[in-house]
Amino acid sequence: LLPLPLVGGYYVLCYFALTDVPQIDCDVKAGKIINPEFIAKCPPGCQDVKYRVYGTDIYASFSSVCSAAIHSGVIDNAGGKILVQKVAGHSAYRGSFSNGVRSLSLPRWRESFLVSGTILGWGTPHLLSTHLAVAACKKHSNQKGLKISSMFLYLSSDCKVDLSFLMDGSWSIGKRRFQLQKRFLGNMAQALGIGSTGPLMGIVQYGDDPSTEFNLKTYANSKDLRNAIEKIQQKGGLSNVGKALSFVNKNFFLDANGNRGGAPNVVVVIVDGWPTDRVEEASRLARESGINIFFVTVEAAAQSEKQNVIEPNFVDKAVCRTNGFYSLNVPSWFSLQKVVQPLVKRVCDTDRLACSKTCLNAADIGFVIDGSSSVGTGNFRTVLQFVANISKEFEISDTDTRIGAVQYTYEQRLEFSFDKYSTKQDVLNAIKRISYWSGGTSTGAAISYASEQLFSKSKPNKRKIMILITDGRSYDDVSLPAMAAHQNGVIAYSIGVAWAAPDELEAIASDPAKEHSFFVDEFDNLYRYVNRLIQNICTEFNSQPRN
Ligand SMILES: *[C@@H]1O[C@H](CO)[C@@H](O)[C@H](O)[C@H]1NC(C)=O
Repeated sequence: LLPLPLVGGYYVLCYFALTDVPQIDCDVKAGKIINPEFIAKCPPGCQDVKYRVYGTDIYASFSSVCSAAIHSGVIDNAGGKILVQKVAGHSAYRGSFSNGVRSLSLPRWRESFLVSGTILGWGTPHLLSTHLAVAACKKHSNQKGLKISSMFLYLSSDCKVDLSFLMDGSWSIGKRRFQLQKRFLGNMAQALGIGSTGPLMGIVQYGDDPSTEFNLKTYANSKDLRNAIEKIQQKGGLSNVGKALSFVNKNFFLDANGNRGGAPNVVVVIVDGWPTDRVEEASRLARESGINIFFVTVEAAAQSEKQNVIEPNFVDKAVCRTNGFYSLNVPSWFSLQKVVQPLVKRVCDTDRLACSKTCLNAADIGFVIDGSSSVGTGNFRTVLQFVANISKEFEISDTDTRIGAVQYTYEQRLEFSFDKYSTKQDVLNAIKRISYWSGGTSTGAAISYASEQLFSKSKPNKRKIMILITDGRSYDDVSLPAMAAHQNGVIAYSIGVAWAAPDELEAIASDPAKEHSFFVDEFDNLYRYVNRLIQNICTEFNSQPRN
């Protein structure tokens, strides 16, 4: 058994090696098995629409057990062992799309079930001894009355981040302080509890130029990393932090260097005094690629030294948010050890890491709005409300989500481009100011126009999302312009109202069309699709690999 570290957000999992688990077929429904609780093994390939699932989290027992296990995220299409527990019937089961499985709604059913993995016990981050952890696991397994052949205790971290420390190797720091910096990094490695399922940590040393000491995959445990840190030699030179941030942005977080994709990218810059180059531009680019930048400044410039600082407020210009969360100032190298625990807590607080790309801050969203005569003034205002209601849900700024809009009739008009407004309020005001044009309907030409005027100017690290709203059949062909947009990486949603043509809506929408295309019979019902649309945008985003 491993000792439990006291910091780093660890918890304990007990795994039970279970023997003789029966394999069931993909089409076996929970209702067919009479045991109130059972463990089964699902074969690969159960992610298929023909294995119906009803409900979300709690499933009607009329559902395929294995397909429900995939829907709930317990296993994937490769199959695996699951624990099924029967519970009472419900009066309503809600359908949803999750982990590649679409579950259906059902008004009522006489019996339900829950699916979980075969991890039968767990401790809490506050467990102070392995004895307590073992006791908790045993108690849990006794309650389940399950036969267990052996038990292992694993430590697993909920701090899954890919970290890069930028260490100051400049001459100004001196030998003694460089030693203290190494000790600090070693303590960080220890406190974080480095591991392939938890935090991984690499180090870049900077002086005149930066160089990688270790990347994310060089060391997979704290002990080895700590020993290696002890052996780092000071480079000397200036404190070129801006240069180092550019280097990290371009070279460090690469898959080849152990970047995991699913873990947030975090950079912690340690600076003695102040940088000798500018950091603003390099940090902006790093933040835009989703890197969360923290600064630990040690022995800041005294009043008499302030005139030597080439970029005043360099910390605020560099960090992810200027709310104090991303910056720590330490008065002396000798007190650096005091920030180990606060820093571990912050870099592991993955919910607060705001520079990481999320569904809400990672897009350039272009609305393509039908302004044809058939819409009418009143309905056009409703469409603008719809556009505003969707925009409102996103985090809007020039480094987060940006909004652009095009109105079209027979002709096209750029209402505002992505770079025009950088606050939510300005975007909402601009949407309100769009005036109704009235005319014909050339939807195909509008898509081409939006591709050129909006999406060709989209940032490379942003998702390009087009939301097209139309109420009638187009005068021109929509499929070729739509196909060209899809090929250029535009994710297209089509919203049809009243006389909109279903075949055109489907051609405009990205694949699968039923996730990207919606139809409402009248403008007054548009509001119903606001949440659905955002949900689909986020589901798609979450299912894609990212930094
Ligand atoms: C927009 O949101 C407001 C406020 O929640 C709501 O009253 C309105 O019906 C919504 N309209 C549309 C078209 O989404």
